[in-house]
Amino acid sequence: MKVKVGINGYGTIGKRVAWAVNRQEDLEIVGVTKTRPSYEASSALREGLQLYAAHQEDAENFQNAGITTNGTLDDLLGRVDLMVDCTPGGVGERYKPLYDKAGVKSIFQGGEGHELTGISFNALANYHEAWGAPSVRVVSCNTTGLVRTLFPLQQSFGIQKVFASLVRRGADPADKKGAALNALEPSLKLPTHHGPDVRTVMQGLDIQTMAVMAPTTLMHLHCVVVELKEKVSEKEVLEAWSSAPRVRIVSGKEGIKNTGQVMELAKDLGRPRGDLMDIAVWKEGVRVVDSTLYYYQAIHQESDVVPENVDCIRSMMKLEKDNLASIERTDLAIGLR
Ligand SMILES: NC(=O)c1ccc[n+]([C@@H]2O[C@H](COP(=O)([O-])OP(=O)(O)OC[C@H]3O[C@@H](n4cnc5c(N)ncnc54)[C@H](OP(=O)(O)O)[C@@H]3O)[C@@H](O)[C@H]2O)c1
Repeated sequence: MKVKVGINGYGTIGKRVAWAVNRQEDLEIVGVTKTRPSYEASSALREGLQLYAAHQEDAENFQNAGITTNGTLDDLLGRVDLMVDCTPGGVGERYKPLYDKAGVKSIFQGGEGHELTGISFNALANYHEAWGAPSVRVVSCNTTGLVRTLFPLQQSFGIQKVFASLVRRGADPADKKGAALNALEPSLKLPTHHGPDVRTVMQGLDIQTMAVMAPTTLMHLHCVVVELKEKVSEKEVLEAWSSAPRVRIVSGKEGIKNTGQVMELAKDLGRPRGDLMDIAVWKEGVRVVDSTLYYYQAIHQESDVVPENVDCIRSMMKLEKDNLASIERTDLAIGLR
């Protein structure tokens, strides 16, 4: 029998997680919630998903718009084993008591704090920590990106210290609010929260971060400096990433020199929605001087956390003991390998 999953908040992350979950042979989406009968409500129906009103008071709006719902979030909670909360940052915590009361397991996203669940998740780094847990948070897109490349380095060579500068996209492509249209905005609270967030899954890692918000919507770009515990060659570093899941080496020599071209590659690969769920690392941007490694990576913020949500469900529902086996199952089902 498939594990029954609901999505609360069918936006940027929610619609992608719903799509990925429905492609797994051991999981199924029972329903998704919307607060408004917007185009995304119609998209959900077109995808064959069952729609639920987030609140009782929203139900009438759907009725007036001629959109059929199957009930409210309360009804959905009675029909699922696990809810993936994809509501905007800070909103998810308000729903946790509802999920708990219904006896339904819950996953939250990076917009919520670590303390909400006490367990933050990355499939490669700490899959086992979510094993059977009632409630887990999948870390943010930036943290997921940092962990995807740092964890293999730690495993292969050991890490002394990390410093990363994050150039953050100002808004998602469909957003109308976000960064200034023609300005760079540094985060003035230093070091930024990204380092401590990485430590919620890679405990004890010495990492400091700074961040600048940029007027772009496509991707985040990270400039990373890692003090490794041993001297290595660039070739060894690239080999460590080549065998790591969800990391994709791209090449400037082959014409991929910027984030626009990385996203074009995702479209050429036929990835759904043009998403790049793997982390793109520039081959020629990898440089080692003694034991100091320098590299650049690009993060598709709208999609890199999507497969992590699937693996998180498997761990919480005790469906697959081995994290690499879960990652492989997830990635095969959604065309990542
Ligand atoms: N986008 C990213 O770059 C990104 C990356 C990684 C993680 N995250 C995290 O993922 C979470 C979701 O972010 P997102 O970018 O997907 O946000 P989003 O695009 O704004 O989607 C959130 C959806 O939740 C719905 N919603 C709003 N208020 C709600 C409520 N009270 N109850 C139920 N549904 C409600 C909205 O849809 P309707 O009101 O139309 O129903 C909206 O489409 C956040 O924690 C965020 O920090 C985001």
